[in-house]
Amino acid sequence: MGKNYQSLKIDRSEITPKSLYLSRRDFMRSAALTAGAAALAACAPRATESNAGSSAPVDPVNTYTDELGNPANTFQQITNYNNYYEFTTNPQGVARLAADFQTSPWEVKVYGLVNKPKTYSVEELNQLFKPEERIYRMRCVEGWSLVIPWLGFPLSRLLEAVEPTAQATHVRFETIFAPDEMPGMKSLGYPWPYQEGLRLDEANNDLTILATGMYGGELPPQNGGGIRLVVPWKYGFKSAKALVNIELVDYQPDTLWNAIAPNEYGFYSNVNPNVDHPRWSQATERRIGETDRRLTLMFNGYEDQVAHLYEGMDLQENY
Ligand code: MTE
Repeated sequence: MGKNYQSLKIDRSEITPKSLYLSRRDFMRSAALTAGAAALAACAPRATESNAGSSAPVDPVNTYTDELGNPANTFQQITNYNNYYEFTTNPQGVARLAADFQTSPWEVKVYGLVNKPKTYSVEELNQLFKPEERIYRMRCVEGWSLVIPWLGFPLSRLLEAVEPTAQATHVRFETIFAPDEMPGMKSLGYPWPYQEGLRLDEANNDLTILATGMYGGELPPQNGGGIRLVVPWKYGFKSAKALVNIELVDYQPDTLWNAIAPNEYGFYSNVNPNVDHPRWSQATERRIGETDRRLTLMFNGYEDQVAHLYEGMDLQENY
């Protein structure tokens, strides 16, 4: 996304195998939280059991497909090709730099124009809102994509609990400020912390989730643990990682990428193959693990669920 963007290449040999880091206890605990626990049990214990007495890296067996029939990317791919500029701009360097980042315990404060502001622990959120499996496409604005099986719950359920007032029109998301643990925060002169925003109706759409897990287990630090936003019809940068503040406001919030390059990254940032980035086409994308490019789908393939949110809006102008 920086100025020296080049077409991205990933060599399979560069994907560093990494042991499945979840302990069996952690896995069983998070699996028990999910509605799909039975389905999960069919694939994951094999991975954890064979991992038990050995140090050999094990990739959880991938039995996930999205609603279009695309297989999910492997756990290895999803956890070794990441955008997370607080650590580094190198997508293949995030996993190593984030390995010791503490994601538990984790709290998120929900406040602003609400009747019932509250700070929640991720554990409490998992108990209250029972994460479910959501297999979503993630389309990065840079032209690569992944299919990721998240564990999460609709953001609308949390918003309902805090009761937005009639004045609230937007939601502002702020992620952790931890320069001592996140080397990119010190080396990149960006206006940290990372900020994002959604209109309230976008935030309340059923596709918008807060993810607290992935691949049937905990949410790895490089993928945004303790808790992250996932908005699958928008470019990946809207899906802010490591959330600590969620504020209900009555204005369109600033976003980090819009502040850095307003002509390149708009507030909406809906996936749209017909609106090119000023420096590259958005018509196609490369799924990590594939060599040929695929056609990018309008609203990333979620048109039926979200097109109504933008009725009457000029999508070239509101990019
Ligand atoms: N969140 C934070 N806090 N910092 C980031 O740099 N990068 C975004 C988004 N969320 C980013 C972030 C971008 S550009 C993308 S494509 C996705 O995270 C990538 O998510 P993934 O690494 O889990 O696939």
